[in-house]
Amino acid sequence: MEKSNTARYETKGDVALITFDNPPINGLGHSVRTAVVAGLDKANADPAIKAIVVTGAGRAFSGGADIKEFGTPKAAAEPTLHTMIRVAEASPKPVIAAIHTVCMGGGLEFSLACHFRIASPGAQIALPEVKLGLVPGAGGTQRLPRAVGLEAAVNMIVSGNPVPSEKLKGTALFDEIIEGDLTTGAIAFAQKVVAEKRPLKKVRDMKVTHPAAEAFLDFAQTSVKAVAKNFPAPAKCVEAIAASVDKPFEEGLKIEREIFLGLMQSPESRALRHAFFAERAAAKIPDIPEDTAVRKIEKVAVIGAGTMGGGIAMNFLNAGIPVTILETKQEALDRGLATIRKNYEGTVKKGRLTADKMEQRLGLLKPTLSYDDLKDADLIIEAVFEEIGVKEQVFKKLDEVAKPGAILASNTSTLDVDKIAAFTKRPQDVVGMHFFSPANVMKLLEVVRGKRSAPDVMATVMGIGKKIKKTSVVSGVCDGFIGNRMLKYYGRQANELVEEGASPQQVDRAMEKFGFAMGPFRVADLAGNDIGFAIRKRLYAEDPKSKKLPIADAICELGRFGQKTGAGWYRYEPGKRDALPDPVVDKVIEDVRRAQGITPRKISDEEIVERCVYALVNEGARIVEEGIAQRASDVDMVYLTGYGFPLFRGGPMLYADMVGLPNVVRAMERFRVQTKDEFWKPAALLSRLAADGKTFN
Ligand code: NAI
Repeated sequence: MEKSNTARYETKGDVALITFDNPPINGLGHSVRTAVVAGLDKANADPAIKAIVVTGAGRAFSGGADIKEFGTPKAAAEPTLHTMIRVAEASPKPVIAAIHTVCMGGGLEFSLACHFRIASPGAQIALPEVKLGLVPGAGGTQRLPRAVGLEAAVNMIVSGNPVPSEKLKGTALFDEIIEGDLTTGAIAFAQKVVAEKRPLKKVRDMKVTHPAAEAFLDFAQTSVKAVAKNFPAPAKCVEAIAASVDKPFEEGLKIEREIFLGLMQSPESRALRHAFFAERAAAKIPDIPEDTAVRKIEKVAVIGAGTMGGGIAMNFLNAGIPVTILETKQEALDRGLATIRKNYEGTVKKGRLTADKMEQRLGLLKPTLSYDDLKDADLIIEAVFEEIGVKEQVFKKLDEVAKPGAILASNTSTLDVDKIAAFTKRPQDVVGMHFFSPANVMKLLEVVRGKRSAPDVMATVMGIGKKIKKTSVVSGVCDGFIGNRMLKYYGRQANELVEEGASPQQVDRAMEKFGFAMGPFRVADLAGNDIGFAIRKRLYAEDPKSKKLPIADAICELGRFGQKTGAGWYRYEPGKRDALPDPVVDKVIEDVRRAQGITPRKISDEEIVERCVYALVNEGARIVEEGIAQRASDVDMVYLTGYGFPLFRGGPMLYADMVGLPNVVRAMERFRVQTKDEFWKPAALLSRLAADGKTFN
């Protein structure tokens, strides 16, 4: 069925009813706006019409601007949202917004220009523009404070969070909260307005009153700046709202407009808008139609109740999906279950979960030692030891017991999913589901598509990822998939910078200044240096010529595996997490430099950032070029949601776009000469895009 993208016009006696009709959330795209303005004109020209009700069809009043129009000429084409708002406000006949379910952004700004507003209880009311690094741009910062008061408006606009309509009852935002059928209520309300000859109320004519507006705004400005360090928009929201207090309405609108246009150009807003679209894009697999029939997932099984298995199970329990968890030994099972319970208890202690809910969730968990209990599972996720022999044993067993059509997933982080699939007679049902630790917290899920993974298996796993609130990104099969494959080169640069003259502290500080919550060495100490060490040792054995990380290796040889052993790249006081510089590490570094004949040089923070970030960019480009990632923005999503890449920079690939790809290429060529490392040969895709004046995103 063709999706509608319009507004319907009908009459109910002497009331005109205009209904936004642009599923799923009635985005106010160009054709909707055209139809609304035409409807308002028609109603005003018809002498039989006395009042106009505007509402939304389906699941929303309106979610605001049509995101598909962002950045296209259509967004600016007449009638713009501003025009639609002006036409409604100037209507000589009363215009009533009948609000339900979702009323956000431009949808709320439009209704604020209507003469009356009624709402169903439970409607979500918000101006979420700040989440895209913007201020509301169609009068929201000027009309909302007039309607709900200064403090409530600052809270709503600065946070962008929705407030349920009934909480705003009693403010000038709503004339009535209507229980029961909204359209019927709205028509009755309109007839009442006409019968009582109520004067048309314009929010713009109201005054913002507050006993100490200036002091409050100063306070708001200071608090916002402290919290939103790297994002200018929240402070700009306060600035725009301030104009509603002490400037005439039209001047306030002008100020809002200027701020809006300024923020549109800001790298932070670009990054946030990119992340917003990238998240939606990641959910799509180009060669698998969106309406592919998915398999039913009502029962899940997890094999292995260790670090990952427990966290993975919690995701499904939280979504109300029963989980059977299998271990080889009772002790391991008990330990795993105790950890899950302890995790939930922590959440209950923090007040984020009730004890009842915890028991409910734990009630969905069935521990077992027997594969017989996996017979009716729709999805089985393996999280056992990272050894191909163990995986082989598990998948062969699963092939015997799993019901036909069950999806068999592996959480492996380094092994070949195609090889694992080949242990079964149903490789089409096998896929990788690579969770990140702690698996119940981290947003990222890499969905690893094997050569034979069936399209409906991919569609099902992407769907279930959404259900358990993950950001799912498809990755092809390769060593490390998208995230860890890139991380290897990031870590290598960090190590080599230390070999050449930087200290681990300097590298961490530079990366933290760039925006990472923790630099590479603090992260390594937190995650444990032993895992990488084991992988490297395997690699050195397989290929004696492979590149070594002599400092990292020497540190591991001292048993310094990080926080868990009280020492790593830093030292840690017992029970504390503060990373303290350690002369032992300095000595290791000096020794390695001496052994390699390296004279340490002074290294700038700028070089540290460039080498670490561009290492991600270059490998990211190769990953896109090889088709391991479906698109550059998927690489960004992986880094934003799984590796702490600063959100205000939009991910490595967008960051490179913003620096300018020719500049990135030039820096890489410089590093190539300086380090004699062929890694720095710019990826073919990167060179091509740079030469063509194009960007990744
Ligand atoms: P872990 O050692 O904490 O847990 C593994 C669990 O599997 C143990 O409880 C063990 O008793 C159980 N197990 C071993 N053989 C089994 C078998 N044949 N049948 C049933 N249970 C068995 O290991 P972890 O860290 O949870 O890793 C599991 C998998 O997840 C590995 O493939 C690893 O590469 C992957 N992974 C680990 C991440 C991490 O940060 N730890 C991140 C992403 C993936």
